Amino acid sequence: MVGPPSTIMRVTTRLVVSIVLAATFVSAGWTWFQARRERAQLLNELDHRGSLLAEGLREAAEPLAKRADAKALSRLAEKFGHRDRLRGVSLNAPDGTTLVATAGLPPASPPPRPGTEIDCGLLPGRTLHRCAAALENSPGFLAVFQDASHVKTRVREVWKRSFWRLLMQVLLIVAITLWIVRFDILAPIERTAEWMRLLRAGEGGGAGPPVGGVLGPLASEAAGLAKSLEAARSSAEEEARLRHAGHAQWTAERLKEHARERLKGRPMLVVANREPYLHVKHDGKITVLRPASGLVSGVEPILKACGGTWVAHGAGDADRETVDAADRVRVPPEEPRYTLRRVWLTKEEERGYYYGFANEGLWPLCHIAHARPQFREDDWKQYHAVNRKFADAVLAEIEGVDEPCVLIQDYHFALLPRMIKQARPDARVSLFWHIPWPNPEAFGICPWQRDILDGMLGADVLGFHVQYHCNNFLETVDRALESRIDWEHFAVKRAGHSTMVKPYPISVAMEENAGPPPSREALLRSVGARGEIVALGVDRLDYTKGIVERFLGIERFLEANPGYVGRFVFVELGAPSRTTIPRYKDLVDEVQREAARINARFATKDWKPIVLAVGHHERAVVGAWYRIADLCMVTSLHDGMNLVAKEYVASDREEAGVLILSRFTGAARELRDALIINPYDVERVADAVREALEMEPEERRRRWEAMREAVRENNIYRWGARLVDDLARVRLGGAVPS
Ligand code: F6P
Repeated sequence: MVGPPSTIMRVTTRLVVSIVLAATFVSAGWTWFQARRERAQLLNELDHRGSLLAEGLREAAEPLAKRADAKALSRLAEKFGHRDRLRGVSLNAPDGTTLVATAGLPPASPPPRPGTEIDCGLLPGRTLHRCAAALENSPGFLAVFQDASHVKTRVREVWKRSFWRLLMQVLLIVAITLWIVRFDILAPIERTAEWMRLLRAGEGGGAGPPVGGVLGPLASEAAGLAKSLEAARSSAEEEARLRHAGHAQWTAERLKEHARERLKGRPMLVVANREPYLHVKHDGKITVLRPASGLVSGVEPILKACGGTWVAHGAGDADRETVDAADRVRVPPEEPRYTLRRVWLTKEEERGYYYGFANEGLWPLCHIAHARPQFREDDWKQYHAVNRKFADAVLAEIEGVDEPCVLIQDYHFALLPRMIKQARPDARVSLFWHIPWPNPEAFGICPWQRDILDGMLGADVLGFHVQYHCNNFLETVDRALESRIDWEHFAVKRAGHSTMVKPYPISVAMEENAGPPPSREALLRSVGARGEIVALGVDRLDYTKGIVERFLGIERFLEANPGYVGRFVFVELGAPSRTTIPRYKDLVDEVQREAARINARFATKDWKPIVLAVGHHERAVVGAWYRIADLCMVTSLHDGMNLVAKEYVASDREEAGVLILSRFTGAARELRDALIINPYDVERVADAVREALEMEPEERRRRWEAMREAVRENNIYRWGARLVDDLARVRLGGAVPS
């Protein structure tokens, strides 16, 4: 409960009294103004009518003064005076004494004020109005009297009406205020307080704060605080657990300290083509989108832990509207920890550098997955120009920073290390290649292989996911460039500059205390799926991911195990990717065609085996699927690491899950307790699905725990720490790459 009720009552009473006072004040002011206006209008009418009468009567009445003929005056007055409100007429001597008058008038009347031709106004008592006009041919004046009692009545009516209106308003205001306070403020505060109390006691809160509406912003701040509290608590618990177990596992906190110490407080700068947050317009509003990207999942925890800057292509259609004058924005939006610096590319640059050279050239070249690499001179020029553009942005960001640390990501920036190192020999530069590196023969297809190798060797530290890719790279260098390879230390020496080449298997952070498990039924319903056993696939729709091969394996499984028809459902969360490239567009059609064909073969009235959910899926939604899926399938034909496999294993599940994993992924070297398959071997994939579903619970738990231990041990913070260590060890002052 929010306590004590008397405090809330006092605050509410104060609020109501203030509102009532304010309403009364405003209403009284307005009524006063209206009453004055009404009074002035009525008096004006009397003045006008009185003046006309006085004017009209003056000439005709003047002789009657001499004769003191009251009767004739009455007749005259009646003749003119059958008008509303006329009370009578008098003729008066200059001193005001009445000479002659119609009945019922005062015995005297003050003479008109000098200088006025006709002097009108209320007489004392305010019920009689008089207009006095000087006679023209004799001294004295004529006075016309009208009834003015209605002025007071009308003014009183205005005040009375206003009073009732005010009373109604006040009652309404009080009722509405009490309603709002009770249901929109008091009740949510009580619920939030209860939620925070539970959180403090470590009993819940995972589902987020229970309020929105007026208190929404406050609630989301509280949620942020709660999250940090939760994170701090689990990190402390984890530290304690590790201390107890004598381990020294890597955590965000530990990496932060480690980086501060090793890099002597120098900030980190990450360069990647993909930005971790895109601002996009949706229904006229700007929203934030998290891209489906292994690179982002892998690298962001490092910057979140250590702070720094992420330089990336600003690809969202509202990105320009959300940066400051230096093209920077603090992220994550809900709890800023580091700076995102956006670089703008033209459509031609994006087409040539990203779609063309990077994704139609280097991507298929390095993956060797049956798509012919396309190398075009124009794409290469754009690739070069965009690398230069990013180099300029990075150099601007590190200006004035002594011995900066620059962590370049992926195949989009092969030329960047040299460009940076040439301008800033004091920078510690690493390049991490997130995709495989093929053998020297395959890489030799690239017409610009020497320029690419040369650019990459500008880095001090060059990382791949696995040793095998390092070896391929070193052999490629050996064949293509004049250089000295130190096979003992895995380094390349060229013109006095040395590049260390090492494997750094990228990873994820374990998900701890993710809150109550999501509803399986609701998730299935959200994609129109039914089934008691759920298998999951999460991919960018890319031809290297072996999605069609996976479908073929599922088809064979159902064929061989008809008992699972109607019970087993495979849900594919597929994020469209690089769709302007024809091969990717064709793939979407192919995947949809295959799913439809297999569904047509096995579907019953209200069930189908493959549910394809093509679209952008929020991280939280993907995370929820990981937690309910009995089985996760990763069937890449070739993959540097594949973080989906690790994310599934790291998810906070109540029961052990099973992972089917392609032997052609980097992850297969670490997650040896997955069911390892060759995705081209349809029979083996089908067998693996059956094996997963029929595995003894004990065996399932054993494999699951072993995989979790592998991810826990080699988590993303360890990846970051190893990279930081090697960067810190770089001996600066050698020859500058020319
Ligand atoms: O796997 C290679 C990679 O570049 C990753 O580093 C990244 O997560 C993924 O592809 C996404 O690609 P894109 O940025 O082109 O959508």
